[in-house]
Amino acid sequence: MCGIYGCIGPNASTMVLQGLRKLEYRGYDSAGLAAIFPKHQGPVKMEKTVGYVSDLVSKANGRFDGAHISIGHTRWATHGQVNTNNAHPHSSNDGNITIVHNGIIENALELSNKIIKLGYDIKSETDTEVISHLIDIELKNQSKPKNYLGAFSNVTSQLIGSWAIAAIISDLEGILVSKNGAPMAIGKGVNNISVSSDVQPFYGACSEVAYMNDGDNFLLTKDGIISQDDSNIPNFSILEGIYDEQNPGLFEHMMLKEIHDQPISLSNALHGRISSDGLNAKLSGFSLSPSEMKNLDKINLVSCGTAYYASLIIVEYIRKYSKVPVEAFRASEFPSENTCSKNTLTIGITQSGETKDTLDALMEAKKCGSHVSSICNVIGSTIARFTNNGAYLYAGSEFAVASTKAYTNMIAIGLLFALTISDISENKKRKIVKSIRKLPNLISSQLIIHDESIQHASKLIRDSKKVIFIGRGDLTSKLVQEGALKMMEVSYIPCLAYPGGELKHGPIALIEDGTPVIAIAPSDSKLHLMESSIRECKSRGAKIILITDHEGPITKHADVTITTMKIHSDLTPFINIIPLQLLAYKAGIENGINVDRPRNLAKSVTVV
Ligand code: AGP
Repeated sequence: MCGIYGCIGPNASTMVLQGLRKLEYRGYDSAGLAAIFPKHQGPVKMEKTVGYVSDLVSKANGRFDGAHISIGHTRWATHGQVNTNNAHPHSSNDGNITIVHNGIIENALELSNKIIKLGYDIKSETDTEVISHLIDIELKNQSKPKNYLGAFSNVTSQLIGSWAIAAIISDLEGILVSKNGAPMAIGKGVNNISVSSDVQPFYGACSEVAYMNDGDNFLLTKDGIISQDDSNIPNFSILEGIYDEQNPGLFEHMMLKEIHDQPISLSNALHGRISSDGLNAKLSGFSLSPSEMKNLDKINLVSCGTAYYASLIIVEYIRKYSKVPVEAFRASEFPSENTCSKNTLTIGITQSGETKDTLDALMEAKKCGSHVSSICNVIGSTIARFTNNGAYLYAGSEFAVASTKAYTNMIAIGLLFALTISDISENKKRKIVKSIRKLPNLISSQLIIHDESIQHASKLIRDSKKVIFIGRGDLTSKLVQEGALKMMEVSYIPCLAYPGGELKHGPIALIEDGTPVIAIAPSDSKLHLMESSIRECKSRGAKIILITDHEGPITKHADVTITTMKIHSDLTPFINIIPLQLLAYKAGIENGINVDRPRNLAKSVTVV
């Protein structure tokens, strides 16, 4: 999944570089831009580099100022190594046609073999470059005057796979754009027309937005959109939402800032969703009513990564408070035919709203007759528009690749959803809702505990070859999986997460002297069982990092104890996630890692 930005207007390349900065969370293996200047002669001007957009800015060094047409790209490598040769843009052999692409062209090899036979020279290992050569062939086969959009559409009709493409040609006053399966939006500003993989970069540059649909091929010019069939030109609407600057403020990194955002972001998620008497939860926005949802045959939750681990907790809440059958699926492995029917609801859970696996799972579910909804953070994202009902997280923009505040808001919305379809007693519901309202302050208190325990624990973890996470019970045994993912994402240390009772059936073999075992042991019915699991690990030389609100004998087995706030037993994930996020952050910092931009990852995954 890459980021594409294009602009027609004064200083188009400056706009493109600013746009790419706001798209960098989509991939940061390499970056590049291309441009055409007024009275342009010769090949399209281009520059690209391995690394961040900031590296591209210094390499471009103002040489693109004054361009009036420009396209740019940030890359997350799918085909070919991370090097300058494979960085986008890619151009035709004469340099007059230059393209950027997000997605995967599945028949690239077959098409490349075809054009190599025609004498074309393929310079990169990507599945993208062949597109520039195919455009060249189409244009060369045309008689005068050239029909650029026609040639471009003929090329995209030969492609198989997913794409969002932007192309510029040295003698064309415009940008050719095409969408099929990857996100692409067009923005209109005072004196520019722009195209982007998502709306984030439009804030501050454009006031109107139009979303491209699969199969669209357009020529963007300074005067507007040209299509071969005017009927499919999308309508512009006012650009909604605000753009939070990617500014860590007083914090060293966005990840730490977003961990500390959670008291506010959680309050925003709860705002207007707890009844004024504070005794009831009411989550609206779903197309099915609570009573219709109570009579469903099944609720399917589909998601990926951190969102999937949030859905495992949500499943427990729905099972705890309602009788509706529910199951969580990794979206890339969703068996839609076996789990969907007219009387099922499939909910996509996603921060970015752009994750292709989750979008595809929802599309499959809809094809199988299921109702579809989404729980999503990004307003106007592809999944939010596809389901057109559900609930927003209101966590604010999340920039750090390792998701933190979105996870907490996902389980909060899932909890409110479960309470909305619940059939537990009013009294029991009141007790839980009362505790939910205390959460933002309790998380705040948890965040301001400065007892060095996190520091000590991260020192135990820093040089370890592996870390094992254990927890017991329906909620904690799921929470540890998110703890392990966070640690792997930002510290690069291999991690395992297991229900405490399962260790002795195999994974305990991994424990040797000094192996850090992070044990989450809230004061609930499983505490004594967790003590046995901890003893088993300790007796094999493990270093125990205990996360607990309990002050009793269990703490004597710990090498480091991280104390947590006391809370209703159903709400412990909201508190225990905080030390897990901070531990991962600290371990990443201790290992000298760019925790906001960990290697090989990207914030939203728009390829399968
Ligand atoms: C989490 O820290 C990762 N960034 C990743 O696992 C992420 O949760 C996953 O790609 C799903 O993204 P989404 O919530 O935007 O759909």
